[in-house]
Amino acid sequence: MKTPNIGDQISPADAMKWALILARKGAGFVSPNPMVGCVIVDKDHKFVAGGWHQKVGGAHAEIEALERFALIKGKKEALQGCHVYVTLEPCAHEGRTGSCAKALAPLKPASLTYGIQDPNPMVAGKGAQILRDAGVIVASLAEMTEWPAMPGKAAELSLKKDLIDEVEDLTEVFLWNMRTSGPEALPFVTVKVASTLDGRVALHDGSSKWITSEPAREKGHRLRLEHDAIIVGRRTVETDNPSLNVRLDDVSDHTNSVVIVDPKAKIADRLLEFNVAKVRPTDRVFVCVQKGIANPQGVARAKDHGFRVFEVDGSKEGVVDLKQTLQRLREFGVQGLYVEGGAGTVGPFFENQLVNRLHVFMATSVLGGKHSIGWSDLCGVSKLDEMWKLKRERVKMIGPDLHVTGRLDLR
Ligand SMILES: NC(=O)c1ccc[n+]([C@@H]2O[C@H](COP(=O)([O-])OP(=O)(O)OC[C@H]3O[C@@H](n4cnc5c(N)ncnc54)[C@H](OP(=O)(O)O)[C@@H]3O)[C@@H](O)[C@H]2O)c1
Repeated sequence: MKTPNIGDQISPADAMKWALILARKGAGFVSPNPMVGCVIVDKDHKFVAGGWHQKVGGAHAEIEALERFALIKGKKEALQGCHVYVTLEPCAHEGRTGSCAKALAPLKPASLTYGIQDPNPMVAGKGAQILRDAGVIVASLAEMTEWPAMPGKAAELSLKKDLIDEVEDLTEVFLWNMRTSGPEALPFVTVKVASTLDGRVALHDGSSKWITSEPAREKGHRLRLEHDAIIVGRRTVETDNPSLNVRLDDVSDHTNSVVIVDPKAKIADRLLEFNVAKVRPTDRVFVCVQKGIANPQGVARAKDHGFRVFEVDGSKEGVVDLKQTLQRLREFGVQGLYVEGGAGTVGPFFENQLVNRLHVFMATSVLGGKHSIGWSDLCGVSKLDEMWKLKRERVKMIGPDLHVTGRLDLR
C-alpha cells in the first residue's frame, strides 16, 4: 500500500492496513509486548497521523499516534469527532505506561476500530468498555457488521476476514505466549528454509550460498527481527560460519540471540572462533548440550567465556529432548524462536510436532541429485492423510523467488 499523506482520504480498510504496516516497524524492539500500530483519520476520513509501539517500556502505538496528531492539529482535544484504527484493543491497565483507553476516552473520538481483543486478562474487553462508557463507538473487526466510522457502509466479509488474519499473523507470537503459561509453556516456533524447487537446501558437500536472492534474504532478516532468538545446528555453524544477526539498512542498535544445538559440545571450546560469537556479546549465545555426554572441559571453557550453556536430556543416539530445550528457552525469556536449520535441526522440530509457522523461500531452480540435502530429509509422515498442511497460507513472489508461508500448529 502507498504511504498516505496528511489530508489523503483513505478507506477504513486502508486505515487498518496502514496501522498493520506501521506496527511491524516495532519488530525487534518490543518483545515481550506485541507489535501494534495505530492510525487516526479526521471526521471526513482524511489521514492525520499514525504511530506504532517502538520500544518495550515506551509509549504504546495509540499514544505515539496521538502525540503526532497533536503536533499536526495543535492539541490532542482536536481528536473529538475523529476515527481511530488500532491493530490491538487499547490497554485498560497501568503497566510500564499509562492506560491507552483512559488516555483516549476523555478526548472523545467518534469511533475506534480495533483488530483483535487483547487476551491479557488485565485488558480482555475492559479497554473497549472504558471507551464505550465514554460514548465512543467501539468495535473489533470480528464483531462489526458495518464500519463504525461510516454507519451504513457494510464491512465486506472477505476483506474483514483478511484483515483479522493479518492482525493475528502480526500478533501471533504475543497471542501464543499469552495463551500458554506455566513451566510446560514453550515459545512460538517459526521454521524458515531457503530451498530450490525440489526442496534442496545444500549440495552434498554442504555448499548453500546462495540458493535464494537478495530480496528473499532481506525478508529473512526482517523475520529474524520478529523473533527473540534464532536456533541452528552445530553443523551449520561449522560449515557456513554465519553471523545470524540482523543486517538491514533501516535497523541499527539491535542485538539478537542465537541458540546452537551442540549436544556433544563438539564446538564448545572453539565458539569464540565463529562469527556468531564475534558479532554479539557471548551472553547472547545459548548452547544446548546433552546431559551426560557433553565434553566437560569444552563446556567449562564456554561458560568461562560467558556463553549461556544449558543441559537437557537426550536419547542414547544423541538426539536432544527438544521440548525440554524449548521449555528452558522460554524460561530464559525467548517467546518467539526462529529455526534456521539445517536439515538436521529442522527435522526434529517437525518430528516432535513443535512447529507453529513455516516460511519457505523457494528459488525457481532445481538442484536434483541423490546426495544433495533436502530440508525435510530427516522428517516425514507415513500416510497421505497425515501430510503437514499449512493453514492461512500465503504465496507471493519476492524478487525472483517464491515465498510460501502459513501456520502449522502441529502441537
Ligand atoms: N538453505 C537453508 O535454508 C539452510 C539453512 C541452514 C543451513 N543450511 C545448510 O545446511 C547444512 C547443515 O545442515 P545439517 O543438517 O548438516 O546440520 P545442522 O542442522 O546445522 O546441524 C545438525 C547437527 O546439530 C546437532 N543437532 C541439531 N538438532 C539436534 C537435535 N534435536 N538433537 C541432537 N542434535 C541436534 C547435531 O550435532 P552433532 O552432530 O554434534 O550431534 C546435528 O548433527 C549446511 O550445508 C548449511 O549450509 C541451509
